[in-house]
Amino acid sequence: MAYLLGLDIGTSGTKAILIDEAGKIVASAMEEYPLLTPKPGWAEQHPGDWWKATVSTTKKVLTDSGVDAGEIKGVGLSGQMHGSVFLDQGRQVIRPALLWCDARTTAECDEINAIVGAERFHQLVANPPLVGFTAPKVLWLKNKEPENYAKVRHIMLPKDYVRMQLTGEILSEVSDAAGTVLFNVAKREWADEVLDALGIAREWMPETRESFDVCGTITSEAAALTGLKEGTPVVGGGADNTCGAVGSGVVCEGRVSASLGTSGVVFAPTNELRVDPGMRVHSFVHSTRNQWYLMGCMISAGMALRWYRDNVAFDEIALAEKEGRDVYDRYTEGAGRVPIGAEGLWFLPYLQGERSPLNDPYARGSFVGLSFKHNRDHLARAILEGVTYGMRDMLEVIKELGTNVSEIRALGGGAKSPFWRQMMADVFGEEIVILSHEEGPAMGAAILAGVGAGLFNDFKATADAMVSIAQRIEPNAEAHAQYTERFEIFRSLYQALKPQFPEVVKFQQ
Ligand code: XUL
Repeated sequence: MAYLLGLDIGTSGTKAILIDEAGKIVASAMEEYPLLTPKPGWAEQHPGDWWKATVSTTKKVLTDSGVDAGEIKGVGLSGQMHGSVFLDQGRQVIRPALLWCDARTTAECDEINAIVGAERFHQLVANPPLVGFTAPKVLWLKNKEPENYAKVRHIMLPKDYVRMQLTGEILSEVSDAAGTVLFNVAKREWADEVLDALGIAREWMPETRESFDVCGTITSEAAALTGLKEGTPVVGGGADNTCGAVGSGVVCEGRVSASLGTSGVVFAPTNELRVDPGMRVHSFVHSTRNQWYLMGCMISAGMALRWYRDNVAFDEIALAEKEGRDVYDRYTEGAGRVPIGAEGLWFLPYLQGERSPLNDPYARGSFVGLSFKHNRDHLARAILEGVTYGMRDMLEVIKELGTNVSEIRALGGGAKSPFWRQMMADVFGEEIVILSHEEGPAMGAAILAGVGAGLFNDFKATADAMVSIAQRIEPNAEAHAQYTERFEIFRSLYQALKPQFPEVVKFQQ
């Protein structure tokens, strides 16, 4: 039997899955690591933590499954997008990596627009410079930590750091490179004009391959640490969002995913590069052959509910434990006790600013309409509704660009809740499809490894053989009408507060 290993270097932890060639999961393991927030709005991680978690989760899936490492035909890597790993001449990490959800680079985004010209930048990389992306992080280092910047010889993405440890190779691939916004998305190569203009040396950026290309093999050192066999091929892998799409069959036009994880993501594959002239959603490179995708990413989806868990309804954690169930089930149950619209309470989910479709680093989370009649259940419902309105806001932009949306696949932790799934269907006014199982980006990474190893060829056929549709959730027309009325108010509340948010933020710094 042939096996494949998929590794996802995520924000909350690293997940390893071992699948057989039919896509059956034979073992999986997850190890968490901390998210460092040395200052408000900052988000960093130690690359060494990713590597430690990779070693231990790989060892664990090998031990738990009893699979002979020689039967593993390929390894695929997936990772959180946009992170910046800075290495010196000796390939040592210079400082902790800045992550996708780090919000410190507003001034550097303005600087990039001033240097390159906003329009020219958009022409070259198909996206604007946004705070979460990699390019402004490089300028931040130059501006704020010149002593560290002087040492930089390599800039890489999180999963590519793990690749270096596994294979000794400094390489990347097109899907993750696109998220740096230093990459010419149309041509699938580094955007030399942007690199030159920003003074970023071309040789600091790794060579890129396609996601399914073999990009090296396991070294003897990595084999000794992980238990993998020396010489096992490692493919390019991909961004966590493209790998998530590959693993859930979102590999053809028309199939769109709506994913409720830490962040909220709407992902739509396209057969040619399609760009939003309004720059509200991103245009990046898919991990499949000759495809691109449109994507909206809201920063705080599950993260907003986690804030509620940790700061408002934390006493329910112990209650849920006693009942032997997930605390989030208590919250959705509570939300279900109050009617649609939470009796006139709105929540804007912009706790860490917002990416799509607002591109507003100053936006902040807000409850609007609070009155004496509102209790904790109203708050929970308003949060779930606010996040779902944010998802609809992105979906509408994607549709407005003429994208075919014939099927919406709900993914991520939020989609496991029957209450939230139905809310998505009702808010969108669209049928929502639930898959038989969902393993997240690690599954897509393993499939990419299988393509690289020659076990699979066609992405759609491979995914369709591995995941099937388990449930179709129909929207309720009356609920949709009620939500739509409130969704319009949700949008107007942001517009009304928008001019004040920069003033509000001044008091948070
Ligand atoms: C996408 C984005 C997030 C991260 C999460 O642009 O920033 O979805 O990839 O890991």
